[in-house]
Amino acid sequence: MIGRHAPISITVHPGTAKDGESENFNPIDINPGDTISIVGPTGSGKTAFINDIEVFAQGDTVTKRKIRVNGEVPPEEFVRDPARKPIAMITQNTKCLADLTAGEFLRMHAEIRENFTDNICTRTLELANEFTGEKIDADFKMSSLSGGQTRSLMIADAVLISDTPILLLDEIENAGIFKDAVISRLRSFGRAVIFVTHDPYVSMLSDRRIVMRGGEVISVLRPGDAEKEALAAVRGMDETLSDVRERIRAGEIIGGGSA
Ligand SMILES: Nc1ncnc2c1ncn2[C@@H]1O[C@H](COP(=O)(O)OP(=O)(O)OP(=O)(O)O)[C@@H](O)[C@H]1O
Ligand SMILES: [Mg+2]
Repeated sequence: MIGRHAPISITVHPGTAKDGESENFNPIDINPGDTISIVGPTGSGKTAFINDIEVFAQGDTVTKRKIRVNGEVPPEEFVRDPARKPIAMITQNTKCLADLTAGEFLRMHAEIRENFTDNICTRTLELANEFTGEKIDADFKMSSLSGGQTRSLMIADAVLISDTPILLLDEIENAGIFKDAVISRLRSFGRAVIFVTHDPYVSMLSDRRIVMRGGEVISVLRPGDAEKEALAAVRGMDETLSDVRERIRAGEIIGGGSA
């Protein structure tokens, strides 16, 4: 199900690294349902990479990369009209209007996006509640939501209300959300998602991993089965850490061996 935006495929063509040398990677195609993570040290150009996609760079950004949509230069309306933009970007600085309730926020956003689908706000809330263990109610104030609730709501909002085929998530903290649920629902909705992340579990759940250094893409990995065993182990560690995190939050002392 793709909704109001036609499915699109995006291609990122190489530009230049920070040292001005040409980047050396085969054009990267991003298709519906793809899950991609971007990894690399601080300052290596991860945010710049997704920014290029967000602004449909045409050799006019610091990286000189070019973005093609379905093989062509993207139409002007994608860039100009926020309601037509097929890309939603969520960053740590994505702020919500604090005085509104969750229901009011969703209604307002649905109007801005001109999305008049039946029960769109209820469906968005239901989807958000698949991603978080602490249920969100339409009456909750946006300002009172936990980090996990806010992130869940922003992702559900991008999928159903903005209804964009492509989501860019820049280091949104993954704590407090069900990562497997997010990734499998995005796939089932046929959305492409790119995570800039330091979270090993999210990187390992992605189909492709783009590795950045010095402002350039140095490799594009498809770990596939090679990481299958490690993935199971990392999932266990991730669950353990989440559990410890919750208990620390709840004011517990973590005893030896009880983690
Ligand atoms: N290819 C490039 N050419 C020139 N400048 C670049 C290039 N890539 C990134 N930069 C610049 O380098 C700086 C750091 O890049 P960026 O913010 O994308 O790093 P990052 O990997 O997201 O770092 P962090 O992990 O700290 O968020 C920015 O000022 C960005 O504009
Ligand atoms: Mg960054």
